[in-house]
Amino acid sequence: MPTPGARPEVHVNCAVSVDGRLAYAGGRRARLSGPEDLRRVHELRAASDGILVGVGTVVLDDPSLRVHWDLLQRTPARSPTRIVLDSNGRTPPQARVLDGSQATIVATAEECRREFPSSVTVLRAGARRVDLPRLLAALVDLGIHKLMVEGGSQVIGSFLLGGCVDRLTVYVAPVVIGDPTAPILATFPMGRSDPAPVVPLRRLESRPLDDGTLLTYVPSGPST
Ligand SMILES: NC(=O)c1ccc[n+]([C@@H]2O[C@H](COP(=O)([O-])OP(=O)(O)OC[C@H]3O[C@@H](n4cnc5c(N)ncnc54)[C@H](OP(=O)(O)O)[C@@H]3O)[C@@H](O)[C@H]2O)c1
Repeated sequence: MPTPGARPEVHVNCAVSVDGRLAYAGGRRARLSGPEDLRRVHELRAASDGILVGVGTVVLDDPSLRVHWDLLQRTPARSPTRIVLDSNGRTPPQARVLDGSQATIVATAEECRREFPSSVTVLRAGARRVDLPRLLAALVDLGIHKLMVEGGSQVIGSFLLGGCVDRLTVYVAPVVIGDPTAPILATFPMGRSDPAPVVPLRRLESRPLDDGTLLTYVPSGPST
């Protein structure tokens, strides 16, 4: 039985354009990181027990969520567990996260009846949508103590608004995307209070990386 309130240490990492977009128009994948930032991301992956994304990212980007050990010039070691938030079982059957090549968890709602390959662990958490606190407590029970959250916009919004983030790193690439249909860094769930909530952050560091800037934040209090 998961311990209520327990959760892994959560590090959210993403790359955005100068105008705060995570991707191109309509969500088409943008490769915003430069070589140094990519290495940093793979170091972070390698140091994590789990890497989590939303099903929106799986559908649009089809990421493998693997550690590129070659980029780190290291022999392959233990790979972090891949975790997908997918309340209704929308992950495409041919998605790379379902290829059985490394441990994978799909978190669904209780009512989801979708069958997944036997290599996939299905965690049911939440009646109709994945409930983050319940899922995070269950992940701790499975030995996931360091969790990296890679996106996309809605997932980052849920973690930030839910107070489930210990550290946020944002690589700001030197490009403006400028299309209103391009997803922004974080989208908060609809139907929240009026005025809309704001998540306060404290900057720990800002430094040049590749041709962009790496920003590191910690939450500085509850959302208002
Ligand atoms: N630049 C970067 O660093 C980076 C990294 C990753 C992704 N991206 C971009 O992000 C975009 C995708 O973002 P997105 O916002 O469309 O999708 P997303 O955040 O990847 O996934 C959102 C989906 O996750 C599911 N979900 C289940 N439980 C949730 C919860 N508690 N909170 C939030 N979502 C939950 C929901 O679908 P159900 O209701 O069906 O469960 C929701 O629609 C893509 O364009 C991708 O390229 C960029």
